[in-house]
Amino acid sequence: MGNVLIKISVIYFMIGVLLGLYMSIAHNYALTGVHVHINLLGWMSLVVAGIIYKLYPNLEQTAAAKIHFWLHNLGLPVMMGGLTLLILGNPGVVVAVSIGSIVVVIGIASFVFNVLVNLK
Ligand code: HEM
Repeated sequence: MGNVLIKISVIYFMIGVLLGLYMSIAHNYALTGVHVHINLLGWMSLVVAGIIYKLYPNLEQTAAAKIHFWLHNLGLPVMMGGLTLLILGNPGVVVAVSIGSIVVVIGIASFVFNVLVNLK
């Protein structure tokens, strides 16, 4: 699971910096919130989680790790896609952004629980 998270994280890294580059070239900073969260929740958070699972392999064997993996990776694209559409003028997607965000937060809570309880 650690390897997969690290691989997913570098995809977010690429998307995040490409979006930053686009914003710089276009002088359009409307999507800064998307850029920031792709980089921090997609790249940084997932790469750190992946490295922690490699450092402490017992952590990735737990149900909490599976819950974190799936909720973070399912919720984040919904949150980021929804936020992009919301900023571009589609107020109807606010529910999707909210659901995606809550799913990610529950996934992160599972990760936090896993580290606090199972890291020896
Ligand atoms: C080549 C890579 C990158 C480019 C071209 C880029 C570009 C940008 C641009 C144009 C903005 C908007 C600035 C503004 O609103 O005035 C921004 C904001 C931001 N970026 Fe990036 N970025 C890059 C990589 C990253 C990475 C790797 C991270 C985090 C891991 C990051 C985190 C942030 C944050 C937190 C902000 C918000 C700053 C604020 O509003 O005060 N960026 N970036």
